[in-house]
Amino acid sequence: MTEYVIQKSFTTSVDRTPRVLEIAEAFGIGLSDKQFTIYDGTKIEIEPGDVVYITGQSGSGKSLLLKELKRLMTADGLKVADLGDVVLEDKPVIELVGPNTFKATDILAKAGISDAYIYLRKPSELSDGQRYRLRLAKLIESDADVWIADEFGAVLDRTTAKVIAFNMQKVARQAGKTLMIATTHTDLTDELGPNVQVNKLFQARVAMEEGSYTTIHAVGQQMLEAIEGEAFVLDPQIATWRRLLGAPFKRPVNLPAPIKPKGKKVKRAKKVSAS
Ligand SMILES: Nc1ncnc2c1ncn2[C@@H]1O[C@H](COP(=O)(O)OP(=O)(O)OP(=O)(O)O)[C@@H](O)[C@H]1O
Ligand SMILES: [Mg+2]
Repeated sequence: MTEYVIQKSFTTSVDRTPRVLEIAEAFGIGLSDKQFTIYDGTKIEIEPGDVVYITGQSGSGKSLLLKELKRLMTADGLKVADLGDVVLEDKPVIELVGPNTFKATDILAKAGISDAYIYLRKPSELSDGQRYRLRLAKLIESDADVWIADEFGAVLDRTTAKVIAFNMQKVARQAGKTLMIATTHTDLTDELGPNVQVNKLFQARVAMEEGSYTTIHAVGQQMLEAIEGEAFVLDPQIATWRRLLGAPFKRPVNLPAPIKPKGKKVKRAKKVSAS
C-alpha cells in the first residue's frame, strides 16, 4: 500500500490586453495575480492491482490528479502506460497488437473490438470510439504496471462504455495491473468495482470512498447470463454486450414468427404464352 500526497496549486497572471481590461472594468474584476489550489495535501492510498475511478465535473481536477499520480508513481520506479501517449501506426488494426493473429484478436476483444471488418481497417479509417478502444488494446498489451485512461469512454455510448469498463477491470485484475480512469460520467461504479473512488469537487475539496466487489460480481453475472440466453438477443443492449464481449453468434431460437406486411395482394398478370 502506497500513500500518495497530492499538492497542486497555480498562480494565474492575466495578460492585460485591451479586451481583458474592458472585461475587468465592466465586471469589476481585479487583475492582480491570484493563487488557486486544486489539491491541498490530498492523501490517496493505492495498492498495486487496484482500480481507481476518478470522477468530477469538467474543470474540477481529474486530469491533474492523473498527471500527479503518474509523476509520483513513475518516480517510485513503476512503469506507467498512459492512453494519451499511445501512438497508432497507420497499418491494419490486426497488425497493431499482439505477436500473431490469434493473440491480436484476443487482445482486441478484451478492449471491445471483435468485428472482423474493423481488424482490416487502419486507425485513420476508424470512428473515435473504435480508435479509443484500439488505444485501450495497446494499454492491455503493454508491460506497464499501471494503466491510465483519462476521458474514459467519453466518445462511447453508455452501454459500450459500461461493457468496456467491466472488461478493463477484469483484464487489469487478472494481470495484477493498477487501472486508473477518469471521466465526468459517474455511472461506471458497478462495472468497475473500484478499490478507490475519488470524486473531485470544486476548489480543493475531494470526496473519497473505498469500493467493494459485491456489485461487480452481480453485473458480470448479469452480462454472462444475458449473452448466453438466446431469448434476449433482440435486446439492443444485450446485442452490444455480446458483440463487445466477443460472444459467439447464436441463432435466436424463440423469435416470434415474422410479421407479414398487411395490404392488398397485387394480382400478377398471367403469363400469356405466345402461340
Ligand atoms: N497549467 C495550468 N495553469 C493554470 N490552471 C490550470 C492549468 N492546468 C489546469 N488548470 C486548471 O486546473 C483545473 C483542473 O483542470 P483539469 O484539467 O484537471 O480538469 P478536469 O477535471 O480534467 O476537467 P475536464 O473534465 O474538462 O477534462 C481547471 O480549472 C484548469 O483550468
Ligand atoms: Mg480532464
